[in-house]
Formats: sequence, C-alpha cells, structure tokens
Amino acid sequence: MAIRDIIRMGDPRLLAVSDPVPNHDDPEVKDLVQDLMDTVASVGGAGLAAPQIGVLKRVFVYSVPPGRSLDTEEQDPPFTMKALLNPSWEPIGTEQSVIWEGCLSIPGLRGAVPRPERIRYRGTDMDGNRVEVETGGFHARVFQHEYDHLEGILYPMRMEDMRLFGFNEELSDLARAQRPVKTEAETEVETEAARG
Ligand code: NI
Repeated sequence: MAIRDIIRMGDPRLLAVSDPVPNHDDPEVKDLVQDLMDTVASVGGAGLAAPQIGVLKRVFVYSVPPGRSLDTEEQDPPFTMKALLNPSWEPIGTEQSVIWEGCLSIPGLRGAVPRPERIRYRGTDMDGNRVEVETGGFHARVFQHEYDHLEGILYPMRMEDMRLFGFNEELSDLARAQRPVKTEAETEVETEAARG
C-alpha cells in the first residue's frame, strides 16, 4: 500500500487515546495494517503503532527477532511482523525489569524503562482469531511499548531515572558498562541503536 510518515514526539496525536477498530475484515483496518507493515519495513523497527502514522486506532504491528526472546524459544518463539487489534493486557506477578528502549517517534534517543517483566495479553489477529499469550523478556517489552502508544504514552513518560535517557551514540558506552538493565533489548530501534 504505502509507506507513511512517522510522526514524532511533540505531535499531540502521540498523546491521544486511540479508538477500538471494528474487526479484521474491515477494509480500512486491512489498509491500515498494510501501511504499518510497509512503513516499519522501510525503517527496520521491531514494531509500529497506528498513532505513529497519525491514525488513532487500536492497532499495532510487532515482531520478536531471533535471539531476542528471553524465554526458551520452543515455548515463546521469535516471530516476524504481525498485527494485533484491540489489545489488552495485565502483568503476571510483580517483577519489574529495566530495559533500554528506543522509539521511531523519538529518533536517535534511547532510555532505560522499568516495566513488568511478565505479562498476559489478548487481542485479535488479522485472521480474526482471538489471541491470548503469556510472555516475558523482549516479547513482553515490545508489546507493552506498542500498547502504550494506543494509550498516548511514550516511553520517557515511564522512566524513573532520566540520567538514563539520551542519544544512542553517547549512551552506548554507558549501556554496555553500567548494565542497569537485564538486556539490551530495544523496541522499534533504528539499526544503529540495535548495535548499541
Ligand atoms: Ni514507539
């Protein structure tokens, strides 16, 4: 379909709460998902939410690249980009992890973000199937990051230590040396940051 412009932090649409979508068969939803797929493929991120292309609908695409899954890959395998509609989630337990995140709407920067380590989430896929997943690690992280976009929340709003927020190049040594984080997982990262 089309590669769309990704809007950036400061645009008020990134702070809006998005509306549910009717169903996977809706032509507008299909077009929207294709645009999300085309757009994220063009920039090489791990996920992208509809509000990031200025569409305030509860849809995102996400992926877990090989090697990013903290769980055994048999139980929780990596997957290529897929869409989730009208998601919801809750934490499992009280464990939090602090992981570096990046965002295509906040290019060039990264931050260490605390979030629940394990979650259970639900939603509808593009075949119309109800999805229910229990997961942790990168998978749980990318889900929560993309879900937050549907609620108008950007990752810096979740941060507790703003000293761990900055430009990729400047933070890369700190990220390696200090390890305030369990892994170097990042969502939506540019290739440059992924190497961090
Ligand atoms: Ni993002």
